[in-house]
Amino acid sequence: MTKIIKNGCIVTAADTFMADVKMEDGIITAIGKNLEDDHAEIIDAKGAYLFPGGIDPHTHLDMPFGGTVTKDDFESGTIGAAYGGTTTVIDFCLTDKGKPLSEAISTWHAKSKDKAVIDYGFHLMISEINDEVLQEIPRVIEEEGISSFKVFMAYKDVFQADDGTLYQTLETAKKHGGLVMVHAENGDVIDYLTRKALEEGHTDPIYHALTRPPEIEGEATGRACQLTALTNSHLYVVHVSCQDAVDKITEARNKGVDVWGETCPQYLVLDQSDLEKPNFEGAKYVWSPPLREKHHQDVLWNALKTGQLQTIGSDQCSFDFKGQKDLGRDDFTKIPNGGPIIEDRMTILFSEGVKKDRITLNQFVDLTSTRAAKLFGLYPQKGSIAVGSDADIVIYDPNVERVLSAETHHLTVDYSAFEGMKVTGEPVSVLSRGEFVIRDKQFVGRAGNGQYLKREKYGSERRIKTETLPV
Ligand code: URP
Ligand code: ZN
Ligand code: ZN
Ligand code: ZN
Repeated sequence: MTKIIKNGCIVTAADTFMADVKMEDGIITAIGKNLEDDHAEIIDAKGAYLFPGGIDPHTHLDMPFGGTVTKDDFESGTIGAAYGGTTTVIDFCLTDKGKPLSEAISTWHAKSKDKAVIDYGFHLMISEINDEVLQEIPRVIEEEGISSFKVFMAYKDVFQADDGTLYQTLETAKKHGGLVMVHAENGDVIDYLTRKALEEGHTDPIYHALTRPPEIEGEATGRACQLTALTNSHLYVVHVSCQDAVDKITEARNKGVDVWGETCPQYLVLDQSDLEKPNFEGAKYVWSPPLREKHHQDVLWNALKTGQLQTIGSDQCSFDFKGQKDLGRDDFTKIPNGGPIIEDRMTILFSEGVKKDRITLNQFVDLTSTRAAKLFGLYPQKGSIAVGSDADIVIYDPNVERVLSAETHHLTVDYSAFEGMKVTGEPVSVLSRGEFVIRDKQFVGRAGNGQYLKREKYGSERRIKTETLPV
């Protein structure tokens, strides 16, 4: 149905202005003052911002990991995402060595198809390069619309790929229009340090952080940047947690290497001391890379402000405290890595970033939506409030004060990583392709309404479409 949102303040990555937004058949068809249509439903957004729907470029929904499976799947995970103002997720499709990439993609379609309440796409993990994989990559880009590939430099004997694989993935992706993403930590050294810690009798969650220090992330980030320079290719470093990694990304960018960096809310507001919480509560804060000493937070905020880091992913990867995180009570290496962030990603950035003057309102939109749309081949269909774009819109109350808690979140996981945190701002209503998913803070969407997004090749938004210029 045709809808017009009135009285809202539109915020894009470039502009902030008062205007009405009209949408028909899921697409924004007009933006302007005093839009009228007798057949349209009128939505009053007085006192609210209108943001482009958030794009979360880093989620793990229904993912087997650490001997268990993430608690939130494509249904509960995307419901939480929608409550938080996110209307698109790009999830990591895991592959198995020796099996066709197509099989993994089918598995991920089966996990998501009738469950997602918002639109979604996939990144594809590459853990080995052989003739079959080399043949499949161009087909995956062209036919599946998967234009980003993930290489893990850590999790030895599980996901980790060697440097030769990373090199060839960079080279191959570049040739066919793909962007390579890396989890940058030195998995071999971590393997040694964790074994040594256990031998010395150190089993507590804090040893997760102490056995993967920032230097280990900095080293791997620098190595990935160098291989990117050598192959003249494109790199996106996920979940950057520390100064050591920011420095390597900045150094490479200053040399003209095409490197992008993402950080996550947890690294901006939580720190290493959270891992020392008593009664094994520290396990709730086990991520890889780990939470860092507090001084790294200022470096990350500054990198967002100055553009050395460009996106905010959630790295949503939730495990219950009871029964899942518990697996590592006697051995920190058995604590499943990851946490529930998808729902709070945008509000934490708004509250801690915009409200505290660390970033501007327009940077907030760029970081949570527009830049990801551009990097991952979704722009301008997603990532903006513009005529012709999908009507993915968040009506956001910038002044409401609330407290984050597992009591009030909409994920199924049994704790919140941000329990008790005071924040300002909340999505009131969220539209996905012109239909309400959240209306007046109530979920009104439906599992299966989310559409799979075939994405364009890397760099598509930079290619000027000369055929559309007037002559
Ligand atoms: O601890 C994390 N980050 N869990 C999810 C998997 C990954 O490395 O992104
Ligand atoms: Zn990772
Ligand atoms: Zn330090
Ligand atoms: Zn991740």
